Amino acid sequence: MQNVITISNLSKTYASGFQALKQINLDIRRGEIFALLGPNGAGKTTLISTICGIVKPSAGSVLIDGHDIARDYRTARSLIGLVPQELTTDAFETVWATVSFSRGLFGKAKNPAHIEKVLRALSLWDKKDNKLITLSGGMKRRVLIAKALSHEPTILFLDEPTAGVDVELRQDMWKLVRTLQESGVTIILTTHYIEEAEEMADRIGVIRKGEIILVDDKMALMQKLGKKQLTLQLETPLEAIPGGLNGYQLELANDGNELTYTYDTQGERVSILALMQDLNTAGIRFKDLHTTQSSLEDIFVSLLKEKA
Ligand SMILES: Nc1ncnc2c1ncn2[C@@H]1O[C@H](COP(=O)(O)OP(=O)(O)OP(=O)(O)O)[C@@H](O)[C@H]1O
Ligand SMILES: [Mg+2]
Repeated sequence: MQNVITISNLSKTYASGFQALKQINLDIRRGEIFALLGPNGAGKTTLISTICGIVKPSAGSVLIDGHDIARDYRTARSLIGLVPQELTTDAFETVWATVSFSRGLFGKAKNPAHIEKVLRALSLWDKKDNKLITLSGGMKRRVLIAKALSHEPTILFLDEPTAGVDVELRQDMWKLVRTLQESGVTIILTTHYIEEAEEMADRIGVIRKGEIILVDDKMALMQKLGKKQLTLQLETPLEAIPGGLNGYQLELANDGNELTYTYDTQGERVSILALMQDLNTAGIRFKDLHTTQSSLEDIFVSLLKEKA
């Protein structure tokens, strides 16, 4: 597949002396949904802002469909829609005026039909004459998306699009992102939610302390990342795990009162069912159970250990 963004040796040291990006090399493929994952402060917003030409890199270059973001800013930027992480809106403008004005900023001719389409797709049509100050947080976030789509970009950046957004709106956004992808738009999003990346992305990149530590197809990555743990509170403590259960990744904890089973999210149903049957056969009874999923931060730590 052809690359639509080429990032070469990109570094950013802020005026404070803090190095937020370290020699980033990354290609974004035309038409893909790329999810950038990383803990707070990893450099996601800095990377996106640098790609979009809002933050000036200390070294390296970014090509947007062949146009250098620094040397050919206007052309490169007009191909990009950016939904920023922070809500900054002109409180007293109406939805319609804000979104139409955004389009004008990119030198595009007025196109009320397009603005209407965007507002309808984001369920903002009945709010078009509302001042922004009268909208809820989730609606304001949708206005940001409408602004980013106002000039018909072919590449869309979404920086934490679903932070603080309710479940219904989150699903609407996912639907919208898919529709955009079907219409040929390339999408780069950042998120803390592994479920979101799992749901949406074709490829996933992991950034930590300004470095891309891993880029992979989602399917390949989910098998490595999607670890879950099932903990069983046993009726009677065990001294050792019975031999018949050697096939599972089991551990005894809490003086033999707890049995934990670690598994990946793929094919979990089959293996849990089998485990339950084998526990039963082994005569092991439990009084309670719960599951936990490793947080992304845990995963990063283990990823880094793997790398070291
Ligand atoms: N203008 C700035 N001046 C100095 N340091 C900055 C500036 N902006 C960001 N940083 C620092 O750069 C690092 C990366 O910040 P960035 O906002 O890119 O992280 P992020 O991955 O988007 O985090 P989050 O998940 O919290 O949004 C942080 O340590 C941050 O403090
Ligand atoms: Mg950020």
